Amino acid sequence: MSIDSGVLPGKSSRLDGLLDWMQMLSGAGLILFMWAHMLLVASVIVSPDWMNAIAHFFEATGMAQVGGPLIFLLFLTHFFLAARKLPFRLEGQKTIWSHAKMMRHGDTWLWIVQAVSAMIILLMGSIHMWVVLTDLPITAAKSAARIQGGFWFVFYMILLPLTELHVGIGFYRIGVKWGFITDDRRGMFKKRENFLTLAFIVIGFAALLRFMFLSIAQ
Ligand code: HEM
Repeated sequence: MSIDSGVLPGKSSRLDGLLDWMQMLSGAGLILFMWAHMLLVASVIVSPDWMNAIAHFFEATGMAQVGGPLIFLLFLTHFFLAARKLPFRLEGQKTIWSHAKMMRHGDTWLWIVQAVSAMIILLMGSIHMWVVLTDLPITAAKSAARIQGGFWFVFYMILLPLTELHVGIGFYRIGVKWGFITDDRRGMFKKRENFLTLAFIVIGFAALLRFMFLSIAQ
């Protein structure tokens, strides 16, 4: 079984190659979106007024109303393209699990983390986008009210690390496939990537705490 054409190259049809490219491009788009999204949400740490101003800009220009659903679509497209490679049947899962244990291959383990986190992110990310996009406009006070309720704090504490791990591993794998991470630079790149992932988790956590302690009556 081919786990992934980038790790274990096999004969793939032209259509398969095209779908592979689309999967990578949609993934790269989502990585850029997630970096921007985290910095925009984290603007609340500096000042809730900043977050409100940024949110207002996205709504006044129609980017939230149009861009939001487009991101949702990109998110679902990326999932369906990547799902071609996921083993939904038990035998396939057992095979990959035993290969990973047998080969002690770090990148195969990363692939497993990527596949498992994808399932959870699909569900939680869809719920999150639905809730935010059906309750526009975005304001720091509304986000704070959600998070201070408790449920969304726990929800984001699960979604945040899973998303950042998925994004970090995705970025690394795109780098290996596109060839800007050569064999001799893999170790160094992995270290930098881990640092970036951790930095985004810390920033996201700081933003959650800021929402938690934000005075809503403003
Ligand atoms: C249309 C796209 C999106 C919009 C407009 C959006 C908007 C927001 C907003 C306003 C918040 C602040 C919390 C709240 O109001 O509940 C937030 C937080 C968050 N979003 Fe999104 N989001 C989008 C897509 C995504 C996607 C695709 C993911 C990941 C799969 C994601 C993951 C998160 C996480 C983890 C947090 C918590 C942030 C933190 O730790 O500070 N979002 N988002």
